[in-house]
Amino acid sequence: MSGIQKKVSPFTKHFEARKEILDSWIKHMEFRRNPFLGFTLPNPELLVEMSEFLESLVDIVVSNERPAIFLRGPVGVGKSTHLILIRRDIQNLQDLHGNAFRTAYIDRSGLHARQFARLCAIGFNVKFNKSDDSDEIMDSVGKDIIEKYEKEKIRSVLLAEDISENQHEIFSKLQYLADLNAEKTEEPIATIIMTGTSEYFQALTAVLPQIADRSEPIDVPRFEWKHSREFIGRRIAYAKGEISSFDIDDFSIYPFEEDAAKILADSSRGIPRDLRLLCRASVSVTADALLRKEGKGEINYEIAKVVSEYYQSFLSEV
Ligand SMILES: Nc1ncnc2c1ncn2[C@@H]1O[C@H](COP(=O)(O)OP(=O)(O)OP(=O)(O)O)[C@@H](O)[C@H]1O
Ligand SMILES: [Mg+2]
Repeated sequence: MSGIQKKVSPFTKHFEARKEILDSWIKHMEFRRNPFLGFTLPNPELLVEMSEFLESLVDIVVSNERPAIFLRGPVGVGKSTHLILIRRDIQNLQDLHGNAFRTAYIDRSGLHARQFARLCAIGFNVKFNKSDDSDEIMDSVGKDIIEKYEKEKIRSVLLAEDISENQHEIFSKLQYLADLNAEKTEEPIATIIMTGTSEYFQALTAVLPQIADRSEPIDVPRFEWKHSREFIGRRIAYAKGEISSFDIDDFSIYPFEEDAAKILADSSRGIPRDLRLLCRASVSVTADALLRKEGKGEINYEIAKVVSEYYQSFLSEV
């Protein structure tokens, strides 16, 4: 160590100590990494696919049942994840009339109308002038959508995250897109998929019924036990460096004991983000115990129960 003493805040000290304890558990388990890190983008190897749900979503888009879909659900249930999965799957599909799809994905929320319009144009690869206002940009986007449809048989799907602010302007733009009809068809040629909580959808219904009425709210399903178990299993395999050979029909969740995992899954109420946080906290408590030479680093029922009860108090507030 050098002689220079840096002043470290107690906060930093605390987190450094926590990290050391966690690292010693990771080492003890012979893992390569922390299994319960959060990722900003979904890591395909860690994804638990709810294939029936995803297929039904994609089917609604392909069959053109509705010009707008609202992916609804509580915080952390997987709305954004499914938005990205729809995008992945729709790009290789055609509808009954042989139309293909292109997508624009707007992942930033709280945009101003002009920013939103610009991102739409950029997402669909539509040229516009720097000085154009939002209506002019949306005009160009609209023209391009019609042209793509008529000349190249390509329908346009706009995926937009949590567009909770500046609703009026943005929604009028979205509606404009949803209303676009090719001259000869009665069918919408642009589909919008939005995400948000049910509170937000309710607000939408109150403020802009014309949009809410035309969009189909679809609830993202929560994890069942088998999904939660797979979620843990994948992350353990990932931590071991064995994710590429993950077998969905035969995997272990060790060092989680089965009944410990079950109680964590129950407490998460099937919400992946909560499950991850509960698992992470359980690992942290286990690592602490290991340091005191209690246990072998396994996440047992008692630990899972303590963590669940502790978390329950503020999970229910969300
Ligand atoms: N099917 C899944 N398999 C594995 N992990 C998932 C799945 N769905 C969601 N997750 C994980 O759970 C977390 C929350 O997911 P996501 O961001 O999609 O939720 P959200 O409903 O969009 O949340 P928010 O309301 O905060 O926008 C992410 O870390 C994501 O990786
Ligand atoms: Mg989201």
